[in-house]
Amino acid sequence: MAQPVKILMVCLGNICRSPMAEGILLAKIEKYKLHAEVDSAGFEPFHTGDAPDFRAARTMKQHGIDISSQRSRLFRESDFEEFDRIYVMDNGNFNDVKSAAINSTYLKKVDYILNISYPGSNKPVPDPYYGGEQGFERTYQLLDSAIELIALQLRNGGK
Ligand code: 4NP
Repeated sequence: MAQPVKILMVCLGNICRSPMAEGILLAKIEKYKLHAEVDSAGFEPFHTGDAPDFRAARTMKQHGIDISSQRSRLFRESDFEEFDRIYVMDNGNFNDVKSAAINSTYLKKVDYILNISYPGSNKPVPDPYYGGEQGFERTYQLLDSAIELIALQLRNGGK
């Protein structure tokens, strides 16, 4: 059997947006029985080893997805080799990943996740960390629409 498509979700702290994105894609991999794998990472070491933010976990639970066993980790250069696609949440994450990419093959794997739903827009998934609870629901909705499209693409054999 061919190798699974491996997708990495990247944000800053790896405790809010990218863990939610990982959980949403994992749920769709299971639902649609996709031959794909997902992980997430961040660039800010402050929360390394931590579980997702409780507000992110609570919002996800309201949508039937448990992300409590995830732990924050930093992005590493070997992620460029290990993963086929790297989705970032915002311009800061894009610049962080871009700075770590030592060649154009690596850089070609990187895209803003909302370019799936809004092609070419480079729209950010706003960071809900400093805001209220409703920011997390908005994050969920933005990510779920984009990731449903990613799942459809994968169902149709996209690499
Ligand atoms: P995230 O949100 O990038 O969506 O995980 C953040 C969480 C924590 C911090 C920054 C962003 N922080 O600096 O602690």
